[in-house]
Amino acid sequence: MNVIAINGSPRPNKNTAQLLNKALEGAKQSGATTEFISLYPLQYRGCVSCFYCKRKDKEHGTCIVKDDLSPVIEKLKAADAIIWGSPVYFSNMSAAMLALFERFLFSNYIYSASNPSVLGKQIPSAFIYTMNMTEEQTHQFHFRDVVLPVETGVHRILGVEPEKLYAYNTVQFDDYSKFESSIFSESDKRAYKEAHFENDLNQAFQLGQNLVAKAQAIN
Ligand SMILES: Cc1cc2nc3c(=O)[nH]c(=O)nc-3n(C[C@H](O)[C@H](O)[C@H](O)COP(=O)(O)O)c2cc1C
Repeated sequence: MNVIAINGSPRPNKNTAQLLNKALEGAKQSGATTEFISLYPLQYRGCVSCFYCKRKDKEHGTCIVKDDLSPVIEKLKAADAIIWGSPVYFSNMSAAMLALFERFLFSNYIYSASNPSVLGKQIPSAFIYTMNMTEEQTHQFHFRDVVLPVETGVHRILGVEPEKLYAYNTVQFDDYSKFESSIFSESDKRAYKEAHFENDLNQAFQLGQNLVAKAQAIN
């Protein structure tokens, strides 16, 4: 049982990474081997619309673009479960995460009415989102509507509806006094973190365990 966490934050040890690592701890405790992959050190681009992956004379499910993302895509295809972690940028996933999905999802998708997925297996997965917004603001800024198309793509191509975990109102800076940040109250942020982040971490741990259980039920 191999569980992969993808860090779509450029920050290696902050909110998204901490929750991803906790989810991997849960997966490990359920007996899985785990791998943490950070996207930002990698050099890659999104889909170049070459349609190699959809040619009738080629094996489907292969992204022909060769860059640092290529081995990651192969690892994702071989995984038993995946945890997608992204900070929310402009009410969406980060650009690095979106580019990964363009490549990974589109190369495993064909324009077939009967079965669009050529992945050939089911992979349970979960999204972990971290954001400045409060839960109420996610509705105001249409966050769930914005990410729904990729989540739906994951459901269709990986064959399992992804789980979701949202960490709201995160602490963004170690020292707010160093940055223009007058729209935030640092003390309110820290109080919110004190009250909620432990619970977010516990949920992440549980999520890692759930994913292993789901993967075991499939395999
Ligand atoms: C470029 C950029 C855009 C952002 N846009 C939003 C946003 O639209 N909504 C939001 O709630 N937070 C936004 N944030 C804040 C981050 O989502 C938030 O601080 C997140 O928890 C950071 O994750 P990290 O600590 O793992 O890097 C943005 C941050 C950056 C750097």
